Amino acid sequence: MSSSHTLRIHELTPEERAVYATLKPERLPDHVAIIMDGNGRWAGRRSLKRFLGHQQGARSVQQVTETASRIGLPWLTLYAFSLENSLRRPPAEVSFLMRLLKTYLESNVQRMMDNNVRMRYIGRTHDLPPDVQEKMRWVEDTTARNTGTTLTLALNYGGRSELVDAFRGLAAEMKLKHIGPERITEEDIHRHLYTAHMPDPDLLIRTSGEMRISNYLLWQIAYTEIYVTERLWPDFRGIHLLEAIADFQRRERRYGGIGEASGEVGEDPERIHIAAS
Ligand code: FPP
Repeated sequence: MSSSHTLRIHELTPEERAVYATLKPERLPDHVAIIMDGNGRWAGRRSLKRFLGHQQGARSVQQVTETASRIGLPWLTLYAFSLENSLRRPPAEVSFLMRLLKTYLESNVQRMMDNNVRMRYIGRTHDLPPDVQEKMRWVEDTTARNTGTTLTLALNYGGRSELVDAFRGLAAEMKLKHIGPERITEEDIHRHLYTAHMPDPDLLIRTSGEMRISNYLLWQIAYTEIYVTERLWPDFRGIHLLEAIADFQRRERRYGGIGEASGEVGEDPERIHIAAS
């Protein structure tokens, strides 16, 4: 973790501090990505209109971001609005989400500054309403020099369209430099993703129990640990982020290898009998 990520553990709630105390600070993830799901169900269970679920969901965004900044998490990337959301939801809900985003940005910029949070975005943001884009730019510029958590909102985002955009960028570069396709590397593709400036997520959290990736960060999650909770996003708080990190720390990451606990390395080949060979 870089020294610019000042820990503010004393600002955690007593309940959060109790969970934090069980964590290994040297094994905190660098990057947590979240699929925030369940706003509609949260409202439905209370016989409220869906938009009230989204409004409550925006409060969770701020609370979770502040806990992330207190524990010095370098990167937090939230799926706030997918390309599919804009195509498949009623226009009134889409326009409510846009207004909510604008209000969220306006009313939380001071808290972002107080928490040393830097705001960034990924997605086809150029297709969002111009007034929303203007507010987004304003918050990005205002928080650009902050050195704590980088909060990235995925807006008008789709994993496949990100890959399309990356391949278009790469193809244009190759044409310009007269480079043949046989020389393309994984690093070249990475350089053209919206996330080129950040590490891949270590941990992906999904709320509301669905076991789906929903077109989120498809390239980047190749080796990401996945944590699914039944909790609905409007009920998700900093303490639940810490619980997800505690679960993450109990896992053994193998990146396609065999892991430390395997015990099979160095096995005498003479003693291995292959049945029915
Ligand atoms: C899923 O709930 C949630 C979204 C549409 C994306 C997340 C949006 C927010 C948290 C609102 C505000 C965000 C910001 C950054 C201000 P759903 O409606 O799909 O829930 P359901 O599956 O229960 O219907």
